[in-house]
Order: sequence, then C-alpha cells, then structure tokens
Amino acid sequence: MSTALPNLDWPLMSNNITRADLDALIAYLQQDSPMLTQSKQVVAFEKEWSEWLGCKHSVFVNSGASANLLTISALKHTVPPGEIIVPTLAWVSDIASVLQCGFKPVFVDIDPRTLGMDTDEILKKITPQTRAVFLTHILGYNALTQKLLDTLAERKIPLIEDACESHGATFKGRKVGSFGLISNFSFYYAHHMSTVEGGMISTNDSELFEILRMLRSHGMVRESTSDAVKTRYKTEHADLNPDFIFAYPAYNVRSTEINAVLGRSQLKRLDANNVVRTANLKRFLSQLDSKNYFTDFELEGSSNYAFTLVMKNADKVLYENLTRAMREMNVEFRRGTSGGGNQLRQPYLKKIVGEKECEKYPKIDHVHFYGFYIGNYPELDARKVDTLCAVLNSLPTGN
Ligand SMILES: Cc1ncc(COP(=O)(O)O)c(C=O)c1O
Repeated sequence: MSTALPNLDWPLMSNNITRADLDALIAYLQQDSPMLTQSKQVVAFEKEWSEWLGCKHSVFVNSGASANLLTISALKHTVPPGEIIVPTLAWVSDIASVLQCGFKPVFVDIDPRTLGMDTDEILKKITPQTRAVFLTHILGYNALTQKLLDTLAERKIPLIEDACESHGATFKGRKVGSFGLISNFSFYYAHHMSTVEGGMISTNDSELFEILRMLRSHGMVRESTSDAVKTRYKTEHADLNPDFIFAYPAYNVRSTEINAVLGRSQLKRLDANNVVRTANLKRFLSQLDSKNYFTDFELEGSSNYAFTLVMKNADKVLYENLTRAMREMNVEFRRGTSGGGNQLRQPYLKKIVGEKECEKYPKIDHVHFYGFYIGNYPELDARKVDTLCAVLNSLPTGN
C-alpha cells in the first residue's frame, strides 16, 4: 500500500469502569467497617440482576467460567451421566465444564448468521443419551429459534444458555438467558458490563438455585436459603455440626461485596450502553462491502460488544492485506472470533476427539481462519467506524 493509513487507536475494549462506579465503591468503603466478603451487596446485586433479566433467582460468582462450571456441576447432581450438545464456537470453559463434570461433549457446527449453534444440526445430534443442550449466544447474537425451543420442550431436554457475551440480546422481545433451565453471564472487563471479574448464574428453578448456592460455597448446606433443605440434612446427619454439613464435593467460587457494588452501579447503565453498541454494529455492517465480507448477520435482538468481521471467501490475499491494514491502523482484533474459533482445533480437545475431527465442521472452520472481532464500546467515535469500513472495502483481494 503506498499511502499511509490513519492511526485509529482502537483497542479491543476501553475501560468501562467509570468514575461513577468508582465513586459508588469509595462511598461504600467510607462507611465504618464496611463488610467486604460476600454479604448484602451480593444479595442486592443478585436481586437486581434477576429483575433485569426476568427470572426468579441468581447466584453471583467470581467469573463466567465459574458460572459454567457450577451450572454443569448442578446438572451432574440432578441427571444421569450422558451427552451434552455443545457448540464448536464457544469459550473454552463451555466445553471444559462439560468434560470436568464427566459428560461427553457432542459438537455441532454454527449458523453463520448468528455464529451460534445451528438448530437443525443440534436436532440431528439428539440421542437418548442427551442430557442437555448447552448453547452459547456468540458476541451478542441471539442463537435461539422457536423450532429449537419447541423440540427441546417436547423432548424434555434441558436448555442451558451461555449468555456471557450477550447481555441484553433478545429473542422475540425477551432477554436471552431467561429461556433456559439455567443461564450464565460473565462480567469480565471486556464484556457489556464489568465487575472486574465476575459471573452470574440465573434460573427459575428453586431446587437448582439451592444446589447452586451450595456449590458456590464448598457444598455447604448452610448456604441454602431453604429451611426444608437445611432441616432435611440436619435430621439425616444428626452426628454433624449443622454449620458444617457438606452436601457436595464442591468449590469456593464466591465473589465479594466490592465486586457487587461495582456490578450494581454498572447495571444502571447497561441498557443505555447496549443501545449505542447496537447502533455502532449496524453502522459497521451496513458499510462493509458484502462482496468481500459477510454482512448478513441476524441483527434482530442483537446486543453486541464486538464487531464481527468475517471474510466471505477463503481469500489469502485479502487476509494478508486486512490483517496488515488493521495492525497499521492500530485496530486491535482477534482472529477466530469468540474464544479463538473452532474449539475442536485446541490441544485439550484434540487429545480427546482426535486430530481430524475439527475438519468435519466447515462453517466454524471458515470463521476460525477468516473471521475476526473488533472492539465495540459506547465511547467509540463512530467516524472511526466509517474510516475502518472505507479502508477494508478498498483492500486488494485475490479475485
Ligand atoms: C461465551 C463465554 N462463556 C464463558 C466465558 C468465561 O467468562 P470469564 O472470562 O468471566 O471467566 C466467556 C469469557 O469471555 C465467554 O465468552
């Protein structure tokens, strides 16, 4: 390229913990002897989150990965061993949690319009051994379909939703994460809202809620909010101190009051921020040249924190020009989109499924090699979006 490209100075994420969040935290800390370990702020955050999502119960944990682990662990304690249908495009903890809890992951390819699991592929993989479908909403795109919901309900197969990347996305006007038996969210720095590190598990199932609370804190029965559960364990284990009854071999994945104060403050801005992000995404996709880039994403109900840039063809010339141009413009990007692309190409899975399994999923494999994501945050100067699109559209291709 002969002319120098502009420096867009565009990181993957700008710091979304604002002065207002820090002031809320400082005000909390300025009290006499503020409680810092999990207490009333965590409970208040869980309640506010449940109201925002439209579900009965939520359990705040220290990360989205912990939310995944506790969710599949709760499933392990309530269903027999078997298979869980999982995406090929997901974060590592979606698959790791399934493996760690002794289930067999069964993989499906993506629907390129949502990057989520393809409904028909899921339905083809259901067997009598299927214990759940663990669906990830990728980068803010809703992956649910009515056909999937109806079939799973009919066949009594639980749906677990990972909405760690999709806070505020909707299906038919209702928030994703409110459809599944259990759903997971992440509040890591890079996501729609942040508690520095953090995650949320939400459910309408009161029995699972009690199990999840116990799993969060060493499997301890006193963590349950149900007197019936506590009395049952106390009666059945009269030799134990009721304060130290461990119902499950579990974990400590609690968070703290500090993180909850930040979460409560952030939650107030979440919806407004998502409106800006959605407008940014539309601006980005509407300007990209659909000859060279995939622009046909399902925008209905999307709530995106990262632009999806997927090349239409396996064009090595465009790939080289595109990655060079983005580096030159100081636009941070990630190849493979969410979680680095095709999970089946990762060493931890190749050891289990073999070297060649990854090649059986061509749609995710294309995104693995020719898909990228770029940061989309509320303060992003929209003019940078225009400049980036103009440059991307002008790049020489191999065709
Ligand atoms: C889909 C998905 N699930 C789970 C996680 C894990 O969340 P955390 O980073 O908070 O552990 C992530 C993280 O980015 C994710 O994208």
